[in-house]
Amino acid sequence: MQPPSRPRRSVLYMPASNAKAVSKARSLPADAIVLDLEDAVAPDMKAEAREAAVAAVREGGFGRREVVIRCNALDTPWGADDLAAAAAAGPDGVLVPKIASADDVQAYDAALAGAPANTRLWVMIETCAVVPRLFDVAALAASTRLSTFVMGTNDLAKEMRARLLPGRAPFLPILTLTVAAARAHGLVAIDGVCNAIHDADLLAAEAAQGVEFGFDGKSAIHPAQVEICNAAFSPSAEEIAWAQSVVDAFGLPEAAGKGALRVDGKMVELLHHAQAQQILAIAAQIEGR
Ligand code: COA
Ligand code: MG
Repeated sequence: MQPPSRPRRSVLYMPASNAKAVSKARSLPADAIVLDLEDAVAPDMKAEAREAAVAAVREGGFGRREVVIRCNALDTPWGADDLAAAAAAGPDGVLVPKIASADDVQAYDAALAGAPANTRLWVMIETCAVVPRLFDVAALAASTRLSTFVMGTNDLAKEMRARLLPGRAPFLPILTLTVAAARAHGLVAIDGVCNAIHDADLLAAEAAQGVEFGFDGKSAIHPAQVEICNAAFSPSAEEIAWAQSVVDAFGLPEAAGKGALRVDGKMVELLHHAQAQQILAIAAQIEGR
C-alpha cells in the first residue's frame, strides 16, 4: 500500500475553454489543476475546449502543479475524441466521469493505452451504481493506470435525489467507503467541491470534515477556495512536531529492534513511525512550495 507521495490539498477545476482561468492557474497555489472538458463546458464549446486543454498541457508552465484533463464519458459524442486527445497530450492525470463498474475503468484504461506511462487515471466517484463496487474498482490500481478517486458530490446528490447541505449527512457513508476502498489499494482520495464560492466558513468546515474522513485534499472551483483547502489539508505544527519526535525516538540506538516505544507519555508503534515519516515527507514538500 503506497501512501500519497506528494501534496494534493487543492485540486482546482476550470473550464478548459476559459483561457483566462487556465492562464491564471499557472500562478495559483493549487496543488493540482483540472482542465475540464465535461460538465463545465457547453456542448457547442466541446471541440474548442479539447484543443485548448491539449495546447495548455503542451505549453506547460504549471510548475509543481499536477495537470489533469477531465474528459467526457465514453458514451457521449465527445468521449472517444477527448480520450484520444488527452492520451496524446500526456498530462499527469486523465480524470473520467460517472464510472459505474470495474469494466468501465478497464475501458478508460484501454482508451489511454497510447498515453505516456506517467499519465495516471483519475476517476470520479459520482454514480449510485459504483457504490457497492468501490473495492473492486480500487483493486484495478494494481493492473491499470488507476491512481485517484475524486468524489463527485454534485452528481451523486442529483442521482440520489439527496440534498447537498452543510454537514453532508446523506453522503457520509459513501465518503467513508470511498476513502476506505482507496486506502485498501493505495489510491489517492480527493473530496468533492463546495459550491458556495464565497462562503469561506462553510468551505473551511467542509474541508475539515474531509480531513477528518481521511481525504488527501479537496476539489475547488474558484481561486478563493484554494488557500482554504491548502490550510485544511496541510499537516499542522503540532502534527509535524509529533511526527518529528516519533521519527527521532525510533532513530535512537536503544530503539533498534523495538516495535513499540514511549514518546511524550504515549505509546507509539511502527505504524506511527510510518505515519510520522509520511507527515514529514508531505510537510517538507509543502514547505518547498
Ligand atoms: N480557475 C482559475 N481561475 C479562475 C477560476 C477557476 N476555476 N474561476 C475564476 N477564475 C478567475 C477569473 O478568470 C478571474 O480572473 P481575473 O481576476 O484575472 O479576471 C478571477 O478568477 C475572479 O473570477 P470571478 O469573477 O470571481 O469568477 P466568475 O464569476 O468569473 O466565475 C465560475 C465563477 C463559477 C463560473 C468560475 O469560477 C468557474 O468556472 N469555476 C470552475 C467551474 C468548473 O470547472 N466546474 C466543474 C467542476 S465542479
Ligand atoms: Mg460530475
